[in-house]
Parts: sequence; structure tokens; C-alpha cells
Amino acid sequence: MSRGQFPSTRMRRNRMQSFSRRLMGETSISVDDLIWPMFVVEGQEIDEPITSMPGQFRYSIDRLVEKAGEAVALSIPAIAIFPALDASQKDADGTDALDGNNLVCQAVRAVKSACPDLGVICDVALDPFTDHGHDGVIRDGIIANDETVDILCQQAVLQADAGCDIIAPSDMMDGRVGAVRSALDDAGHQNVMIMAYAAKYASAFYGPFRDAVKAGASLGSSGKSSYQMDPANSDEAMHEIDLDLQEGADMVIIKPGMPYLDILNRAKTEFGVPCIAYQVSGEYAMIVAAAENGWLDHDRSMMESMTAFKRAGADAVITYFAPQIAKILLAKKYLH
Ligand code: PBG
Repeated sequence: MSRGQFPSTRMRRNRMQSFSRRLMGETSISVDDLIWPMFVVEGQEIDEPITSMPGQFRYSIDRLVEKAGEAVALSIPAIAIFPALDASQKDADGTDALDGNNLVCQAVRAVKSACPDLGVICDVALDPFTDHGHDGVIRDGIIANDETVDILCQQAVLQADAGCDIIAPSDMMDGRVGAVRSALDDAGHQNVMIMAYAAKYASAFYGPFRDAVKAGASLGSSGKSSYQMDPANSDEAMHEIDLDLQEGADMVIIKPGMPYLDILNRAKTEFGVPCIAYQVSGEYAMIVAAAENGWLDHDRSMMESMTAFKRAGADAVITYFAPQIAKILLAKKYLH
């Protein structure tokens, strides 16, 4: 099929005016695409700035509930809650994860009672709870897969009991999605969804998150490579996604985001299931730091990154920018 030639074909015609750029836009973003991750700490009236993520805070539960209200006011469909524990609450096996009255469970209860229609997502993984910062328990120097999975199942049920709508296994242990699905079903939580971190890479871009949840400062860059994926691999990601879907995942996360758009695109094309991109802490930090230096336009970079996720195939995006994106969209300030 011939698509015409210069001078009769002028690609720039459609680009000349804002109205036609808007009409020709193939991808659009909406507040319905946003998941807002937040960090919670013990205490009252606390909003503790996270140094490596300027503009992000660890909130005490009262403040977290206020932020949840802000999410509702901005029509953001869901938030993800991550606990930041004091070192004194952590141990080698992450036992606090199995306390049904721990910080994250309390936070979920408080948010769901204040904002019942707001979707609440919780990670299932041990890293915020272990003193070594790994996502599982260590036996003979190895992250013990099956024992960790048993603990994760209990953690998932406690979080669902607290009112969590979506359980997000982020640990990358083998077989955990199927095990968590059975545990949830056995506990009467058939309708609690599983958003599997299916293609989760051993990435340097999680650095600021580990600062935020005060976990794994000593892990080093290859610290989680025995369970998170090698950034070199793409077919393996398809295999991981396939397994998680067979085990009962309702939707899959591809993480990190921007450096892995090819994986996201393959996942969406090959499986046709709900795909969630996670624009991780390091990606957030890069944009904000460059903008603070005057090297990037903050809002345009933020919106462009969001468009890129949607274009690549994301149904939704977990992003620390969620409230800022929502404000721009609601004000209809985002013109092409
Ligand atoms: C926990 C978890 C991590 C992130 C989300 N859940 C860190 C990790 O796996 O080390 C990273 C999120 C981010 O960087 O924003 N397993």
C-alpha cells in the first residue's frame, strides 16, 4: 500500500495546530490509569520527607488517611501502601509481617474505613520486615523459597482480612502466586485480586525505595539477583508472566517502567491481559532531580513518561507522580 509521497504527502500538516494534534493522538491518559504508592510510619501527625525522593513522604496513619482522601478527591482509583518500620521492629525472619495488627494492616483498616471505595493494594514480600532487607527468609545462606512462600501466604491472608482489595506479590519466589491464591480462597477471600509482580527485574532503579522503607541499604546492586530477573532477559519475562497467569494472577506488573517498555509491550501483545507498569522510585528521582536542576521540564517529562507507558500497552501505571498527573488531567491543562 502506497502512503503517498512528498510534496502531496506532508506529515507536518496534521501537526500544525493544537486541535488536530489532539484529534490525531493515538494514545491518551486518564486518571483511571493511576495507582498512587504511599509510605506509612508509626506515630501521629508525621510527614517525614524521603531524601532520595523529593516531594515524597513517610506518613503516619492519620496523614495517610488524609492522602487517601486526596486520592478519592482526585478520582485516583487505587493506592498502594508500603510500611517503613523502625530497625527495632525488624528481625531476620521478618516476623512482624505475621502480626495482623502490624503497621500496614492498621493502615489498611484506617484507609478502608475512611475511603471504602478507594482500591487498596498491598505488597506481599518480607523486605520491609527483615533486618537484612531480603524479600524472603535466609537458610544456609540462601533465600529459602518454599518456607518464604508459606510465610507470604499468611501475610496475604492477614492483609486481606484487614480489607486489602489487591494483593501484590513482589517477592519473586517460585510458586507464590498459586499458593497465595489458594490461601486467600481457603480464608474466604475469593474476590481479593492478585496483581503479580510477574516480570520484576533485579534493578538499580529501586535504590530510593529501599531508602524510603529503610530496607536493604547493605544489599548492593546485585543483592536480589537470585530471585529478581536479569535485566538482559526478555523471553524469561514472558515465561514468568505465563506462570503467574496459570497460577491465578488477575493482572501482571512489569517493573521497572521506562527502561523496560519493550517487556511491557511484549507482555501486552503476547498475553492480552491487564498489564501494569511500575514507574519505580529511581525513575521518579531522576525526573525530579533533573527538574530541580533546571535540566528537564518537570510536568512535561512526567506526562510524556505516562504517555509512553500507555503507548507501550499499560492498562494502568503505579507512579509516585499520580496526584500531580491527576491534577493536570483534571484541570485539562494537558494539551498536545
Ligand atoms: C519490595 C518492593 C520493592 C519495590 C516495590 N516493592 C523493592 C525491591 O524489590 O527491592 C520497588 C519500588 C520502587 O523502587 O519504587 N519487594
